[in-house]
Amino acid sequence: MHHMTIAIDGPAGSGKSTVAQELAERLGLLYLDTGAMYRAVAWLALQRGVSPQDSSSIVQLMRKSPIHLERTEQGNVEIWVGSNNVTRELRTPEVSNAVSAVSAHPDVRSELTTLQRELSSQHPVVMDGRDIGTVVLPHATVKVFLTASLEERAKRRRREFIESGFSSATEQVAAELAKRDEQDSSRTVAPLKPAQDAHRIDSTGKSVDEVVLEIMTIVEQTLSWRQ
Ligand code: DC
Repeated sequence: MHHMTIAIDGPAGSGKSTVAQELAERLGLLYLDTGAMYRAVAWLALQRGVSPQDSSSIVQLMRKSPIHLERTEQGNVEIWVGSNNVTRELRTPEVSNAVSAVSAHPDVRSELTTLQRELSSQHPVVMDGRDIGTVVLPHATVKVFLTASLEERAKRRRREFIESGFSSATEQVAAELAKRDEQDSSRTVAPLKPAQDAHRIDSTGKSVDEVVLEIMTIVEQTLSWRQ
């Protein structure tokens, strides 16, 4: 029997992580942030002075220092690269600027896709990212494509930056998000796009709670149709 898998995709700042995390908690599923895994690879490249463009060196680094996840006593998932806990180092502007280039390499994606599928075969999950419904979990129980206006996404990201001790102007954050969306949507391998059977939700002006409830209704409906 296959257990429940929920795929949440969408552009940067659409509220995916917050919504996915809350949803996982309410449904008792494991939350997996695949963006954080790509960020961990970008962190590794930057830390070792390897160019984000140099895919073969990056894959070599990944094999030497594999990414793995550990659950804390509080139930949070922490990300490790080899023997480093990098969980709190993944949201810096440096990592954000390098991650799109790193995630465009087919070999890097194939390593992480394998890891993500392995994890979802072991646990019921809510997984968020860009290609979860299209590539990683094409048979997910429920697929959601979450969007929001660029302005709202920039405001949310700016708030996150400020919370982690960085400051930047909303316009600059918006420009960086737009650039990353463009790179993520136009890459050849697993570009950001809604799966054909994804439920599209625009979170502009909606609270986290509203979006979570909307998805929970979709999950209930899907499960009742299947019975
Ligand atoms: O969700 P995020 O902003 O933390 O994601 C960081 C980057 O990782 C994003 O610019 C694109 C890439 N990514 C991806 O290519 N595929 C995924 N499944 C998740 C993230």
